[in-house]
Amino acid sequence: MNKNEEYGKKAHLLIPAGAHTYSRTDEVFPGNAPKVIERSKGVYTWDVDGNEYIDYGMACRSVTVGYDYDRISEAAIRQIHNGNTASKASKIEVEAAEMMCSLFPWVDMVKFAKNGSTVTSAATKLARAYTGKKYIARCREHAFFSYDDWFIGSTVMNAGVPEEIQDLTLQFSFNDIESVHNLFERYKGEIAALIMEPCDTEEPTDHFLQKVRELCTEYGVVYILDEMITGFRWDLQGACKYYGVEPDLVTFGKGMANGFSVAALGGKRDIMDLGGLTPGKERVFLISTTHGAEMSSLGALVETINVYKELNVTDHIWNMGRRLVKGFTEIAKEYSLQDYIYVEGAECSPNLVVCGKDKKASFEYRTVFLQEMLKAGILMPYIAIAYQHTEKEIDRTLDAARGAMKVLGDALNADAAQFIEGNVIKPVFRKYN
Ligand SMILES: Cc1ncc(COP(=O)(O)O)c(C=O)c1O
Repeated sequence: MNKNEEYGKKAHLLIPAGAHTYSRTDEVFPGNAPKVIERSKGVYTWDVDGNEYIDYGMACRSVTVGYDYDRISEAAIRQIHNGNTASKASKIEVEAAEMMCSLFPWVDMVKFAKNGSTVTSAATKLARAYTGKKYIARCREHAFFSYDDWFIGSTVMNAGVPEEIQDLTLQFSFNDIESVHNLFERYKGEIAALIMEPCDTEEPTDHFLQKVRELCTEYGVVYILDEMITGFRWDLQGACKYYGVEPDLVTFGKGMANGFSVAALGGKRDIMDLGGLTPGKERVFLISTTHGAEMSSLGALVETINVYKELNVTDHIWNMGRRLVKGFTEIAKEYSLQDYIYVEGAECSPNLVVCGKDKKASFEYRTVFLQEMLKAGILMPYIAIAYQHTEKEIDRTLDAARGAMKVLGDALNADAAQFIEGNVIKPVFRKYN
């Protein structure tokens, strides 16, 4: 038994699903993916048997500069030596808050946490307290906002969430302003917040984000934009700056501290301060956790922002994204596969689509392609580009894609099942295992 098998088996015995994020479990990767990672540096990752991969998962998209980027790791270590935590607010806690508030004009106050789910849930709580209303409207097409009941209850994996809670989350469609308007009319005076990502795989069209802004203001609904993925990727000031829209509340996580555990809820003072100590106001229990302001992670956050400013990290991510998209598109054309494999969406976050014979997205054919990429040393569950993906890594990836597309073409002429060597990739959100 090699170490991947040994550790992989133990992981499943000891940890439900074998990992602490569903999007890092074996079932969302082809069978030949590494089971357990030992270490990562830059954009390279090594499994427990020492196999090396160029990584495009980048730890659920959280590493946007590169794993163990020296300046950022050292900043975190300095804070570890300052005690890493404190019995009162720490200096770095105040400095990190100051940095966030000066970076985003729509953020007057900020509250840190360790995970994105904590801050999106806190945003909905705050919106309910602010408006006195109970419903939350969430975007139907956007995959994930929180592991908490208010969101999970609105997915097919709603086991364990009482129906009364499920009924409080409503859904609208992205780029469909009528669906928002209809919901606001039908539940007039009852919706506390609307939450969506400024952009997922589909970019906003026809001023959708601005039109939602107007409707939220008109109907007294708190507008929450979740920048977990778009933040620190579309622009240092996020997709809000990129698309020109101002939310009431905004949430960050993932890439804000280059893989260190920091998430943030920010927004307008009159809403955020409900969680404060203003005399005479009813108290709102807004995020209060022992490790929420862990100093090492906040040290990493401050240094990550410095690195972004000095090195124009987001420009680089866009440039490498463009190179990858152009290369993929050209190779697909060479093999006449452009209707079967393509990349869509914003080039700083290209969304890879692999289709079956019917030209519809197919998990079977996606498995074939990603399995072949893995054979060439490319770990690509999706495409998350970081600052340390340079032309060298992109070009190696394109070489691998050439080989993998050839096999994909052969599989499309025969049958995917004949080519799949392990399990077929499965989506996280489904009712039964
Ligand atoms: C858009 C979005 N919001 C929120 C979250 C939740 O973040 P976390 O996994 O840190 O709880 C995620 C995580 O995948 C996400 O993609």
